[in-house]
Amino acid sequence: MKLLILYGTKSGASKECAKLLGEKCSNATIIDIDHEKPNLNEFTHIIVGAGVRNDKMYKPIRDFLKKNQTDLLTKIIACYLCNSKPKTTDDVIAASIPEAIREHALEIMSFGGYKPSWVPISEEKKLKGIDLDKIDMFAQNYLKSV
Ligand SMILES: Cc1cc2nc3c(=O)[nH]c(=O)nc-3n(C[C@H](O)[C@H](O)[C@H](O)COP(=O)(O)O)c2cc1C
Repeated sequence: MKLLILYGTKSGASKECAKLLGEKCSNATIIDIDHEKPNLNEFTHIIVGAGVRNDKMYKPIRDFLKKNQTDLLTKIIACYLCNSKPKTTDDVIAASIPEAIREHALEIMSFGGYKPSWVPISEEKKLKGIDLDKIDMFAQNYLKSV
């Protein structure tokens, strides 16, 4: 398995989740979509994650999912999002992830996120609002199915 964890973040939660997932899935390559465009040919497995604003996952990740849809349907994929309004999660997923990818993905999960008016100012608080059990569950489930 060659695993890419690709994330988009504005306030850091999705990055922290990518790092935690990377620790649970050995040999993962972790890429910030704002810094690097990955070569998908190098990977068999892809986890895509992003933060949410205005009821959508961040645009670079939405664009990536749309543009690379055909390629992604040949990979083992899963998606996560970081958001603060759990009740809207299903709508955010429907508005952000193309239907074919939603159907193909092994799992799609919200890990929680920071409150809109709050970003962590200290190292110790960088996981506040993030549901670590969900990350654990997501990783275990993903690894079981590969
Ligand atoms: C301006 C702004 C708008 C937001 N809009 C939403 C929203 O529509 N729905 C939601 O669930 N969370 C919303 N949030 C909360 C973010 O999704 C949350 O802070 C998350 O941690 C962002 O991910 P990131 O830290 O990886 O950037 C918003 C936050 C900000 C700052």
